[in-house]
Amino acid sequence: MPRVLISDKLSPAAIEIFKRRGIEVDFRPGLSPAELRAIIAPYDGLAVRSASKVTRELMEAAPNLKVVGRAGIGVDNVDVTSATARGVVVMNTPYGNAITTAEHAIAMMFALARQLPEASASTKAGRWEKNRFMGVELFGKTLGLIGCGNIGSIVADRAVGLHMKVVAFDPFLSAQRAVELGVEKVELNELLERADFVTLHTPLTEQTRNILSRENIARLRKGVRIINCARGGLVDEAALYDALKAGHVAGAALDVFETEPATESPLFALENVVCTPHLGAATAEAQENVALQVADQMADYLLTGA
Ligand code: MLT
Repeated sequence: MPRVLISDKLSPAAIEIFKRRGIEVDFRPGLSPAELRAIIAPYDGLAVRSASKVTRELMEAAPNLKVVGRAGIGVDNVDVTSATARGVVVMNTPYGNAITTAEHAIAMMFALARQLPEASASTKAGRWEKNRFMGVELFGKTLGLIGCGNIGSIVADRAVGLHMKVVAFDPFLSAQRAVELGVEKVELNELLERADFVTLHTPLTEQTRNILSRENIARLRKGVRIINCARGGLVDEAALYDALKAGHVAGAALDVFETEPATESPLFALENVVCTPHLGAATAEAQENVALQVADQMADYLLTGA
């Protein structure tokens, strides 16, 4: 009977699936890297979210390991090159949390447009500052999507529903798909020049790192608002800070940061910045979806493919 270790907080649904499929499963979230290395040897599969770091050292201590399942989209916490060299399959769940993450981006866009966190804090503090919080409408504004894949295309759909004009930069977006989504496919420079709001939906790769670099932030329209619910490292945080201070960028909503956990940042001091702690995938529905999907995929592989 194959054995799987779940080393991060996954929905109990995953445990049920593994058991039902005849796989022995242990649920041990919160182990230190050394503790994880010490117990990994007998397992055929390892299921993680983002807390466990699946390094070369960990895999060297796991001679039986055949599959690593990431309950989520990004596999940033898995050394895929080392896994591949050892014949360990790495699988993710690219669809399970896409709606949830897209909804978070839309929520962040509204939060920025209407300064909701600041207005809430001010009201709760008993200040009733009705004149302080003048917002902007989303209706008729141009949303620049950097990345129009699983998540970006859901954001596009919701934004079209809000009667925004959506322009998208994505080298993988076909002309036909752009038409189906009701978005205009553009080059990055055109997006930077036209967007009132910019939202990022790409993985962090050598091509996308600092895609909103100092130079590209300078190209954005004055008064633009930026949303990043994808990956830290896509936006140059120091350049963003300077552009916010200078008033060139009117606001930024950040769910992800260059360094995580992000417990301090000069950006936290700015009132036109809204921050959340990498909550893009944090809904009950998404966590259930990714847990079910990763467990089923890993079971399929261990029972038939490995
Ligand atoms: C993902 O890659 O699935 C999301 O960023 C969510 C997460 O890391 O928890």
